[in-house]
Amino acid sequence: MTTITFNRPYATGKEFDYISHAIQNMHISGDGSFTKKCQNWLSEHLSAPQVLLTHSCTAALEMFPILTNLKAGDEVIMPSYTFVSTANAFVLRGCVPVFVDIREDTLNLDENLIEEAITEKTKAICVMHYGGISCEMDKIMQLAKKYDLHVFEDAAHCLFSSYKGKQLGSFGSLSAVSFHETKNIISGEGGALIVNDENYFDKAQIVRQKGTNREAFLRGEVDKYTWVDVGSSYLPSDIIAAFLWAQIEHAEQINAKRHKIWETYFHALKPFEDQGFLRLPVVPEGCQHSAHLFYLLMKDEAQRDHMIEKFREKGIQPVFHYIPLHSAPAGQKYGKVAGELEVTEKASKCLLRLPMFVEMTEEQQDYVIKTLQEIIES
Ligand SMILES: Cc1ncc(COP(=O)(O)O)c(C=O)c1O
Repeated sequence: MTTITFNRPYATGKEFDYISHAIQNMHISGDGSFTKKCQNWLSEHLSAPQVLLTHSCTAALEMFPILTNLKAGDEVIMPSYTFVSTANAFVLRGCVPVFVDIREDTLNLDENLIEEAITEKTKAICVMHYGGISCEMDKIMQLAKKYDLHVFEDAAHCLFSSYKGKQLGSFGSLSAVSFHETKNIISGEGGALIVNDENYFDKAQIVRQKGTNREAFLRGEVDKYTWVDVGSSYLPSDIIAAFLWAQIEHAEQINAKRHKIWETYFHALKPFEDQGFLRLPVVPEGCQHSAHLFYLLMKDEAQRDHMIEKFREKGIQPVFHYIPLHSAPAGQKYGKVAGELEVTEKASKCLLRLPMFVEMTEEQQDYVIKTLQEIIES
């Protein structure tokens, strides 16, 4: 039977070469030459003044509350329909995630519900752009300004996404991207901290280097390096960066291929949406997305589960996505809910993601589309 997995990590062919260069360079700990190349590219691509590779997006997220000096009890507004790390990064510092519902169309934090969730303890809004489709950043930035709140971006899905011409990841004072093997550009595990506010430049290097001023020491600015602040080890080995560099060199081709697959799904499945069988992703005007994932929203959980089961019988592996954080045991223990989270709960029950990976062939995609048609017609 044909088997079509949900994801298949893509290697460009240059990864081994670059890893062996890294080994020959004899600098395989963090911040070697491949790390610098990746950071420079990301910085230019995102028009971000500072980018620091981390060992995961989770690591970069964990740096947000440390850098901004958030304290126990401080509240951070975020969606519940997101990955664990968006919330856990703050909970680690004793902060309280305040879960707000998402919009029906984009499944992103509903900007019109944020204001009601703000209390005197609110210190930040942490957005997550689902599938690389942007949140309504104009309104969110205005609210943050009005209430003097930090804006953070969990931009895990977002490389190559923009909002009104500005790259996602460049709105927050701090943002985080992921290079996990399920993402568009990968290094197995991996991520980056994007620092858009120069007030955090020096501290970001210290926090990432175990709380030491090692960077300043390497630049010859201090004569010995020592423990100067809270920190951890958030930097990846240059071996990881070497892998990532091979991916970055192919970023355009990877991006183009993913968009082709995304568009093919969208056009082929549009008639099913028009006939009311399902709902397709919505990309608002002014948003350029990353083609990170392709989802369908079915009418209810039973229909979604039926769809997944039937796909699996045909060797296709669709998957659902986030379990709302507010309903998870840790979310109940450490978080707070602002208002009803009806859209979040519905999305979690009705959403499935279709297989999508760079080397997906036209035949494989046709098979997924035809199978979906058969399931609907049966
Ligand atoms: C929205 C979001 N944030 C953060 C992460 C964590 O990324 P990483 O595995 O690089 O830590 C994920 C993982 O898929 C994610 O979907």
